[in-house]
Amino acid sequence: MSDSTEQIRQEFLHDLDAARDLPQLEQVRITYLSRSGRIAVLFDGIRSASPADRPVLGKALNELRTFAQAHFDERKAALEAAAGSSEPAFDPTLPGRPRWVGSRHPVTQTLDEIKRIFVGMGFSVENGPEIESDYYNFGALNFPPDHPARDMQDTFFISKDILLRTHTSPVQIRVMEKQRPPIRAIMPGKAYRNEAVSARSLVQFHQVEGLYIDRHVTFSELKGTLVSFAHQFYGERLKYRFRPSFFPFTEPSAEMDISCYLCGGNGCRVCKYSGWLEILGAGMVHPHVLKNGGIDPEEYTGYAFGMGIERTALLRYGIDDIRMFYESDVRFLRQF
Ligand code: DAH
Repeated sequence: MSDSTEQIRQEFLHDLDAARDLPQLEQVRITYLSRSGRIAVLFDGIRSASPADRPVLGKALNELRTFAQAHFDERKAALEAAAGSSEPAFDPTLPGRPRWVGSRHPVTQTLDEIKRIFVGMGFSVENGPEIESDYYNFGALNFPPDHPARDMQDTFFISKDILLRTHTSPVQIRVMEKQRPPIRAIMPGKAYRNEAVSARSLVQFHQVEGLYIDRHVTFSELKGTLVSFAHQFYGERLKYRFRPSFFPFTEPSAEMDISCYLCGGNGCRVCKYSGWLEILGAGMVHPHVLKNGGIDPEEYTGYAFGMGIERTALLRYGIDDIRMFYESDVRFLRQF
């Protein structure tokens, strides 16, 4: 009889080990540990054993049952842990996990807003190449050869005459070449400058150029358009001013400032204690530039303006380091 106790012990261990999940384990319990299982059947055999053998047999069977139950419990706990829990896998009472939704880059949002405002004032949107000739980037825009004004824009040259455009102004010439006045266009795009990257400047950035050419276009129209833009973009309450400036392709030239968004004009670190922030350059298109674009400066006049988009976004959102836009840090980007 003790042989068959040992045999059942071995078979039990083998079956227990083979049970891969809780339903299989339940089958093992039914086979060995239930009321009519193989161990219970052995207990029934005690009655037919000789009175001398009964105590020994009873002790062996009790040990077997305790052994089997302990191993069974252990295996069951392990399988339950592996299954995660004995609870159903899906708990409908748990709060949902929000999905991350991507968003448009703040520079794109800024550009879209600028486009929306100018398109609303009747401007079309034009594009030009980022790889330009010296002629379109400088010569046609009235930068004389070897003139120091070229040094204002540190240029990446590809060859002697081919370069990465340093501003979007060359698109003015391309638009004049293919359209007749009245021309009313904005020209957004990338520009490149060979400068040290810092909190204020990038090697690759974006600009929007604006151009309006027709008969009798005046400087006051330029001011009116830009003030209307600034009010829509930065808000009605800002103050603004135009300062005389110099660009080879405009005469007269100006820069437009708005009152500092941070201190409201009292003076702070952002506006370098001046109360003002420069937002764009502008002016009346120089007669040489009109001529280079195939437009008669005796018949037509025009204005132009240009602004940096990253710079505009910095001012609008109150960001103090332009590099943040291109570090792809989602903690930054998710705020827009
Ligand atoms: N191209 C100039 C720059 O990159 C910006 C600019 C100034 C554009 C005056 C214009 C303008 O069209 O009239 O700094």
